[in-house]
Amino acid sequence: MKPILIALLFVAGAACTTQLYVPTEANVNKVTQASLVELQQGHDLFQNKCGKCHKLPKPGKHSKDEWTKILGKMAPKAKLTTDQSELVYKFVVNN
Ligand code: HEC
Repeated sequence: MKPILIALLFVAGAACTTQLYVPTEANVNKVTQASLVELQQGHDLFQNKCGKCHKLPKPGKHSKDEWTKILGKMAPKAKLTTDQSELVYKFVVNN
């Protein structure tokens, strides 16, 4: 029984992490101005800071305006600096 449970947990975990898009050149300046490095930093911050209290939200699920509001509320919760919040914004908006 136990190995099956562990296998299931592994599959569930992998499914969660693969949902998040990884930025490439195609995402640079797609919606708002952002370099690939900024998008990658935003990706890492988002992944590390935004899934602690709830599941990671899907970047494509909210509009630019919604993300501005959401980050206004969530950045303080995640203890992000203004710069970090800006990077997360660039990452979620240029999906
Ligand atoms: C300290 C806990 C905590 C952290 C860290 C956190 N959140 Fe949240 N988040 C919440 C709670 C609680 C709610 C639901 C209640 C609310 O909207 O205030 C929520 C709701 C949300 C929602 C749904 C809002 C809506 O209007 O549908 C989104 C999207 C979201 N968070 C994104 C983020 C992002 C992005 C980050 C990282 C910058 C983040 N959260 C970090 C606690 C947290």
